[in-house]
Amino acid sequence: MNEYISLSKQVYHTKLFGFQTTPKRAKSGANFSTMNLSQSYNDSNILYHQDSCLNPIEEASSIKIRIQDQSRSLNDILSIFKSFNVEITRIQSKSYPNWQEKYTTTYYLDYQRGLQEQLKMILIQQLEAISQSVEQLKLPVVPWFPQQLSDLDGIENLTIQTESEAQKLELLYFKDKNYQKRRKLIGLAASQYKINDKSLPIIEYTDNDNYVWDYCFTRLSKLYKNIACEEFNWAIDQFKKQFSNFEQKVPQLNDVSIYLQSQTGWRLKPVAGMLSKREFLNGLAFKVFHCVQYVRHHSVPLYAYEPDIIHDLLGHGPMFAIQDFSDFSQQLGIASLGVSDEELEKLAAIYMYTIEFGMCREKGQLKAYGAGLMGSVNELEYCVSDKPQHLPFNPYVICRDHMNYPLNAIQPLYFVVDSFSDVTKLISDYCNQINRPFNATYNSKQQRIFLDKEVRMVKAINKVPSL
Ligand SMILES: [Fe+2]
Repeated sequence: MNEYISLSKQVYHTKLFGFQTTPKRAKSGANFSTMNLSQSYNDSNILYHQDSCLNPIEEASSIKIRIQDQSRSLNDILSIFKSFNVEITRIQSKSYPNWQEKYTTTYYLDYQRGLQEQLKMILIQQLEAISQSVEQLKLPVVPWFPQQLSDLDGIENLTIQTESEAQKLELLYFKDKNYQKRRKLIGLAASQYKINDKSLPIIEYTDNDNYVWDYCFTRLSKLYKNIACEEFNWAIDQFKKQFSNFEQKVPQLNDVSIYLQSQTGWRLKPVAGMLSKREFLNGLAFKVFHCVQYVRHHSVPLYAYEPDIIHDLLGHGPMFAIQDFSDFSQQLGIASLGVSDEELEKLAAIYMYTIEFGMCREKGQLKAYGAGLMGSVNELEYCVSDKPQHLPFNPYVICRDHMNYPLNAIQPLYFVVDSFSDVTKLISDYCNQINRPFNATYNSKQQRIFLDKEVRMVKAINKVPSL
């Protein structure tokens, strides 16, 4: 069994996200020059293509106007736009003095598209007449991201076909044809599910499935008492009260999702396999956590070559009932919308050191809260020992020094927080300084993302490398 456990760790850690490497961007055919992508996303290794055919004239819905010495006011600018019935959607201004102590003010205005070209030229001329300079700006181009809840229904297209990966690994249990067949059916139900459906797919778990769940829960729950943080233990107790036979039988994703929604507004969405980092993190913005519904093979209950429902429900599920934890998880999700690949990798690292492998301190004692720890008998005991390094949680230190965290071994380093409100604040501060050409906010009533600036989105095509 031990060799399985160790293999489990190795393979498991490589699979927390969909993939670790992505192909180089194509050198031709992506029309980068017109979209100015090379400037904003020069570290990108995702292939982009245009998903819309906007009129080039309509692209210029942002404008930069410089006015010297307050000779004209913002009112004058707005009056011109008003006379053309063009609505301003965003205004930003910057003022600075020149060597003569005269002030120049630069206004950045976003306005609604749709004005005819001729009228637009007249509008520009009128603006030029009252200003020092007028410059039309192109919309910032960003990778596509979901803006409403139902947009998440489309992202399973990027799901990685895990079966072929498993076949490459020549896993013992993959020779079980009945197991394969069930996995495919469970995956099919997940891919057919739409987020506004009344119920998540209900799975009839077999005796083998329930045996694996029971086996893992029994082993892990003995460790939770002393090693898991107070919040996790509280949430597990709630789960036991809420779901009948929680210790012995695999709970339905639907029931757990309903419970979490009643507590913190989080919901679970079934997915057939793993998603890319971008799609996975984007889901968090909507308080949606993507979960698989299948159980690892019964022949190796402590062996998971990728996250299964034990990792997702037992490891991740409880902490989404904790408000502070759910808050910073969502912050990471909102911050991931439309960011460059470079920024996305940094957010993924912060995710790894918190939601997957996070630790905290309670009354001076080290405790665990990350799902990767809660689902691993070996690592749960190891993480509180004196073998690994423990550093105070700091997102900037993670992004500067620890981007190359190991993916195929037990972690040598954990970041420790004093409280979940601390980590929420630190993540919030970090997310506020991310280099992104817009700000995004989530409206929980409408379950929509609102932007303070219009952007142009392009779809990112993820080519999954063979592992
Ligand atoms: Fe996970």
